[in-house]
Amino acid sequence: MFNLILFGPPGSGKGTQSEKLVEKYQLIHLSTGNLLREEISNRTPLGVEAKSFMDKGQLVPDEVVVGIIDSCLEHHKDAADFLFDGFPRTAAQADALDKLLNLKKTEISLVLALDVTEEELIKRLLNRGKTSGRSDDTNETVIHQRFAVYKNETAPIAEHYKKLRRFQTVKGEGTIDEIFNLICQAIDKRMKTLPSDLW
Ligand code: AP5
Ligand code: MG
Repeated sequence: MFNLILFGPPGSGKGTQSEKLVEKYQLIHLSTGNLLREEISNRTPLGVEAKSFMDKGQLVPDEVVVGIIDSCLEHHKDAADFLFDGFPRTAAQADALDKLLNLKKTEISLVLALDVTEEELIKRLLNRGKTSGRSDDTNETVIHQRFAVYKNETAPIAEHYKKLRRFQTVKGEGTIDEIFNLICQAIDKRMKTLPSDLW
């Protein structure tokens, strides 16, 4: 089994690279941001609750997102390989993910963090905000709030994966294909070190 976390601040390219990675490596893509936006567009009670946090650039409560991931893992019971995008984002989520994977007798194989300067991130998000309809992309105050949440709550969980020697940083600036190649190199290298019956 091969389980990848694509890590990095808002706008670093997690979603863009995930689309290419799921195709190449046949991974199941679990993006909590996308799943929450789906709940919002279906106007479910969970979506209504989540929207109030997302519009302000705050994190949706841990139990809500962990519940979503839990049911996705359950739904894909027989699937082998997962790509987590935008999850985990807090120490409690990282802990819950370890436990959920443990129940499946697996673990995180690799965490790849996309490194992009804040200036470039703001440019990308405001640019996408012009067409995406994502309310959290149009307001610069909300964008800064998302960065602050990332720094305070998400970035620190890198330590957990560093201790396990599963964490690696990848240059997140350049063309989408250049970055994709760097990510693939890191994945291929890691896959070679795993016993073949595990992925
Ligand atoms: P989420 O949807 O996860 O958003 P995010 O992490 O804030 O970041 P983005 O999805 O905006 O960026 P990305 O890294 O995927 O970059 P992308 O490829 O899109 O979360 C949204 C909200 O949901 C959160 O604020 C929170 O409220 C809630 N939430 C989600 N998960 C949660 C969790 N686990 N716990 C609690 N709450 C949660 O690229 C960005 C733009 O840049 C695009 O326009 C793209 O075309 C462009 N781009 C990409 N690569 C390049 C490149 N190489 N050069 C130039 N442009 C590029
Ligand atoms: Mg995304």
